[in-house]
Amino acid sequence: MWEIDRSYYVEFEETFQRLFDKKQMLDQGRPLPQSALQKIKESLTIEWTYNSNSIEGNTLSLRETQLVLQEGITIKGKSLREHFEVKNHEVAIAYLYSIVHDSYQLKSRDILTLHANVLRSIEEEFAGRLRNGGVRISGANFIPPNALKVPTLIDELIAFVHNNPLGLNTIELATIFHHKFVWIHPFFDGNGRTVRLVMNLLLMQAGFPPAIILKNDRKKYYEALNQANNGNYQKLILLMCQAVERTLNIYLNAFPGQEPYESIATIVSEPGTPYGQDYISLLARQGKIDAYKEGRNWFTTRQAIQDYIDNRQRKRQL
Ligand SMILES: Nc1ncnc2c1ncn2[C@@H]1O[C@H](COP(=O)(O)OP(=O)(O)O)[C@@H](O)[C@H]1O
Ligand SMILES: [Mg+2]
Repeated sequence: MWEIDRSYYVEFEETFQRLFDKKQMLDQGRPLPQSALQKIKESLTIEWTYNSNSIEGNTLSLRETQLVLQEGITIKGKSLREHFEVKNHEVAIAYLYSIVHDSYQLKSRDILTLHANVLRSIEEEFAGRLRNGGVRISGANFIPPNALKVPTLIDELIAFVHNNPLGLNTIELATIFHHKFVWIHPFFDGNGRTVRLVMNLLLMQAGFPPAIILKNDRKKYYEALNQANNGNYQKLILLMCQAVERTLNIYLNAFPGQEPYESIATIVSEPGTPYGQDYISLLARQGKIDAYKEGRNWFTTRQAIQDYIDNRQRKRQL
C-alpha cells in the first residue's frame, strides 16, 4: 500500500523545479498589498467552491456561486441543498485558513471537521463520521476497502504524510495523499470535496497557494485516479502540477512588471518564434513549459519558450 512507483519523476523533474522556483519568487515577492491579496483569496474561494462542487454534481454556475457567496442571493430553480453545498464549502475553506500555518501537522480530527463542514445540514447523519459500511464508486476500476479497515488506513495515511519515508516533495505528497484518500474512500459521501480541501491544507502549510482541480478537467481527473489505482501516478501528477501552477501564476501576475501571458496562437503569429503552434501546445500540455489553460486556449510567455530552449541547450552541452 505504501510503496509508490515514482517512475513519473524523471519526466517531471523540470516541472517541479519550475513550480518550486515560482513558489520562491512568491515568497521573496511577499508581501503583496493586503487589498490585492484579499481580492485573490476571495476569487479563489469562489472558484474552488464552484469547481469542487461542480465536479461532485452541483449545478450552480461560477457566477451563481459568486452571487450566493458574495451577495447572499438565492438562485431561482436551484434546490436548498445546492445552496447549502455552496455555503458549506465556503465555511470549510474559512476553517482551513484558520488552522493552516507553517508548522501545521495534519490531524484526523481536522479532516473530520472539514468533512462535517461540507455535509452540514445536508447529510447530517454522515457529517464528520467515517463510514461503517461498504461503498462503491461509479466508474471506478476497484471497490474501496472494507469499512472495518478505514480507521487504520487513515491513520497510516496520516503517518505517511508526517514521516514522508520516500522523501517526496510537497506536490508529490499532496498528489499521493489525494489518491490514497479517495482510494480508502473513508466516508459514505463527500470524499471528493473533502480530499480537495485536505490536499490544499498540505500544499498551503508548505507555502503554496491552494490548487483547484477544474470542473472542465473532470474526465481527465477520473481517468488519472483510475490510473493511480493501478499504481501509475503520471496523469495525476500532471493534473496537480497544472493546478498548482495555475494558482501560482494568479499570485505572481499580481506583482507589477510581470511579462504578460499570451495565447500560443498569438505568440506564433509573430515573426521569429522558433516553434510552431502544435509543438508549443504539446510542450504546454506536457507541463514542459510554463503555461496554463483558460477555456480552450493555452497561454504562455515568450520568456517561457526561451527558457525551454536555453535549458535544452544547456543539457546538450553537459
Ligand atoms: N476511479 C476512481 N478511483 C478513485 N477515486 C475516485 C474515482 N473516481 C472518483 N473518485 C473520487 O471520488 C470522489 C467522489 O466521491 P464522493 O464521496 O461522492 O465525494 P463528493 O460527494 O465530494 O463528490 C471524486 O471526486 C473523486 O475524488
Ligand atoms: Mg457525492
